[in-house]
Amino acid sequence: SDNWIKVTALDEIPDDDVIGVSVEGRQIALYKYEGEVFATDNVCTHGQALLSDGFLEDGEIECPLHQGRFCIKSGKAMCDPLTEDVRTYDTRVDGEEVLLLIG
Ligand code: FES
Repeated sequence: SDNWIKVTALDEIPDDDVIGVSVEGRQIALYKYEGEVFATDNVCTHGQALLSDGFLEDGEIECPLHQGRFCIKSGKAMCDPLTEDVRTYDTRVDGEEVLLLIG
């Protein structure tokens, strides 16, 4: 069944930036963008790079290794060399806590 898990405090994520966290053995990238929190898998679908080491701009995360970009809301791969979307997770803010839905 679905599980909401506390992953971090809201103020641990800088505005319009990304951090990496480990949740139940998964590497997750957590974004704060325009006041909202989004989450994707942290490992790029193209290679061994962490999206949390990349650059967030206009709602897209740019991978640090080959500059592929994903939409942080849909996980959609937006350009070459990406061929696979990245998994997204539903998030919720409860007071000062960020929760993630792990299916
Ligand atoms: Fe991310 Fe190549 S590893 S674009």
